[in-house]
Amino acid sequence: MKMASFSSYYGSLFLLSLFSSFITIALGGTFNTDFDNLFGEERVDIKDDGNSMTLTMDEYSGSGIVSKNEYLYGRFDMKIKLVPGNSAGTVTAYYLSSIGSQHDEIDIEFLGNLTGDPYLLSTNVYADGIGGREVQFYLWFDPTEDYHTYSIDWNPDRIIILVDNIPIRVMLNRQSIGVPFPTKRPMRVYTTLWNGDSWATRWGEVKLDLSNAPFVAGFKNFNANACIAKQGTSCKGFNGGKNKGLDIESKRKLQKILSKWVVYDYCADLRRYAHDGLPYECRKENLLQFE
Ligand SMILES: *[C@@H]1O[C@H](CO)[C@@H](O)[C@H](O)[C@H]1NC(C)=O
Repeated sequence: MKMASFSSYYGSLFLLSLFSSFITIALGGTFNTDFDNLFGEERVDIKDDGNSMTLTMDEYSGSGIVSKNEYLYGRFDMKIKLVPGNSAGTVTAYYLSSIGSQHDEIDIEFLGNLTGDPYLLSTNVYADGIGGREVQFYLWFDPTEDYHTYSIDWNPDRIIILVDNIPIRVMLNRQSIGVPFPTKRPMRVYTTLWNGDSWATRWGEVKLDLSNAPFVAGFKNFNANACIAKQGTSCKGFNGGKNKGLDIESKRKLQKILSKWVVYDYCADLRRYAHDGLPYECRKENLLQFE
């Protein structure tokens, strides 16, 4: 058994080792020890012993980092404070992704907006190279004023996306009825800030205003409680079956979010699927809700 970062969790490591002797767990994490630069190097500013970071986008480039480790399952938390003021055209992204044409991906993307207009939080899940599962939300607070915690919690049974610990989206593993779900490919954690003005704000209508540059987003307290995928290791047992769904309180909160804050849900987009019919997991007979 090998430790990735912090050493104060022998208790849980021991328990995990009971059901898989080859698991390597990451707990905690800092921007300087756990990530590499992805692009825009000098625009990544890491502070506080690696616990906080800003990403900057100027007229020449955005910036981003990628985790050194590949993970198969885990919970990934990040505190983020978004680009303030006129952020139209900017995309701040926090996501997991594997590589290759059949890739898996779990996305949290923040689409900027004109001053006073709401950010869109856009979520998506790709499995076996197939995406198109967008669910988009407005937030119930101003995400540029303060840091808020955004989390991806992924295990073999389901994916839960959370904001300040409130679940906003659940995708259950429905491989049994033929719905692709990410279970095979280890993913890295990415954090990026880039120019998406061809599509991001009002479907590309509103462009980046460079007189507002540089655009800066803040990140801190990255925390991974995750299985590090390495040759010869198995992450199969990680959290599996232990935490399938949500408790009653969380379900209630999720219902409230879904009824109040969803702007777009691919499962409700009848026009998009008029020709081919709704995706499998969206069809009434297959809707399991979030048991
Ligand atoms: C930006 O604001 C407009 C007007 O309120 C809104 O329709 C849109 O959803 C907002 N977000 C984005 C990313 O376009």
